[in-house]
Amino acid sequence: MNRFARLDRQHVWHPFTQMRDWLREEPLVIVAGRGAVLRDAHDREYLDANASIWTNLHGHNHPRLNQAVRRQLGRIAHSSALGLANEPASLLAGELVRLANPGRVLRAAVAPGNPRLPKVFFSDDGSTAMEVALKLAYEFARRTGRSRKPRFLSLGGAYHGDTVGAVSLGHVDLFHRAYRGLLFASDAVPPPFCYRCRFNRARPERADARGYRMCRWECLDQLEQRCARRRRGEPYAGFVFEPRMQGAAGMIPQPDGWLRRAAEIVRADGTLLLADEVMTGFGRTGTDRGAGTVRGRPGRPSLFACHQEGVQPDFLALAKGLTGGYLPMAATLTTQAVFDAFLGEYAEFKTFFHGHSFTGNQLGAAVANASLALLTDPAGGRRRCRLEADLTRELVRLWELPAVGDIRQVGLVAGVELVRDWRTRRPFALEERAGMRVCQAMRDRGVLTRPIGNVIVIMPPYCTTAAQVQRMIAALADSIEEVLGPVPP
Ligand SMILES: Cc1ncc(COP(=O)(O)O)c(C=O)c1O
Repeated sequence: MNRFARLDRQHVWHPFTQMRDWLREEPLVIVAGRGAVLRDAHDREYLDANASIWTNLHGHNHPRLNQAVRRQLGRIAHSSALGLANEPASLLAGELVRLANPGRVLRAAVAPGNPRLPKVFFSDDGSTAMEVALKLAYEFARRTGRSRKPRFLSLGGAYHGDTVGAVSLGHVDLFHRAYRGLLFASDAVPPPFCYRCRFNRARPERADARGYRMCRWECLDQLEQRCARRRRGEPYAGFVFEPRMQGAAGMIPQPDGWLRRAAEIVRADGTLLLADEVMTGFGRTGTDRGAGTVRGRPGRPSLFACHQEGVQPDFLALAKGLTGGYLPMAATLTTQAVFDAFLGEYAEFKTFFHGHSFTGNQLGAAVANASLALLTDPAGGRRRCRLEADLTRELVRLWELPAVGDIRQVGLVAGVELVRDWRTRRPFALEERAGMRVCQAMRDRGVLTRPIGNVIVIMPPYCTTAAQVQRMIAALADSIEEVLGPVPP
């Protein structure tokens, strides 16, 4: 075992990891990366099939991003945003505002008076981006007299991060029940999870459940009823959601039109929209019409999932891919109205009393600017379209496997749900660790990803070639067969 592996085992406590299991094996120590490939301390190579926990966009060791970091390092790495401005963060704020307010998309948007998002609050990661959105929305509701005790609505299974406010908005019982005593109450409505929806009367098919579901959008009726119950008192201060695809909930895709209609329902009460695009942002959800998903029509690449549904939120939380996956940095964009509610004479103390030491970090902002330049380059858009099509083409072969119950692709992200019996959708018990065992077998085949329970995540960096996608999915297919075999009907 090399020195770093030994030190890790002695001292490092890993996130979301049962450390007893971790300590049984020699840890995989990553020492280098290039493009979609990671290299370990024993010189073995792996494909990064979950983009280093959903962060990496353009590949590792990208020359343009490296150059941006080096250039900035030659000047300064960090200066405080408390009392000081800096060049890369100012540029980044301007560019984010430009991209988050694309006139063309929003002309077709749902509600008249869709807000513009001209203000940017920087922080460090997805959890803090959501924490900022939550605190701003809470205080805005109180200051404008809408609520005395603002309450929030989010989706069943939601995960918005691990800080206490973000956890309070989440509904993953396994992660959150231990901390219940620390949390404030929020409400949940069922997500439109077509594959496992009790209102979907269709029998399972070998296809994405969004395409053959039989329902009457009862999930939206439930949202409507929730809002109506609240309306008698104080309407919800905010509706919190991941647009188009709920990630940590198990890669749950929303059927086309769901978000647009959900937004209409909650906006009717003046409820603000808090969009968590920590996972979905920066092109991850692919082309505007979701080529490769249920409808399969190619379209113009869009950077934000909300806009693909014609929805502009009041808060847009961004992190993970903001720096192309290089450095921890996050941003919460919001409206002029929210910003104005915090203006006042000094002695009125209306200031937003919130901030982090590394807010507006110069290195992070410099690399984020370089990442946005790659994203907005037309060649980058074309590459994402190609990758989306490659992924669709390869994923199809998984339907042959009886242990695959559902394949859920939205743009450049896919979740493959493993089941005991696809004809009944009968799941594996979590204790059986079907997802973890399959991922371990993929690792033995040189492909790295992490499961969410029984769902295998495939989220390649945008530079992944067609041959590499083919290897990722082949490794997944072979691993499912090896670990789960022909599951009895
Ligand atoms: C949708 C979403 N929101 C928030 C977070 C929290 O982000 P972070 O881990 O950077 O705090 C995550 C992390 O996976 C996420 O997927």
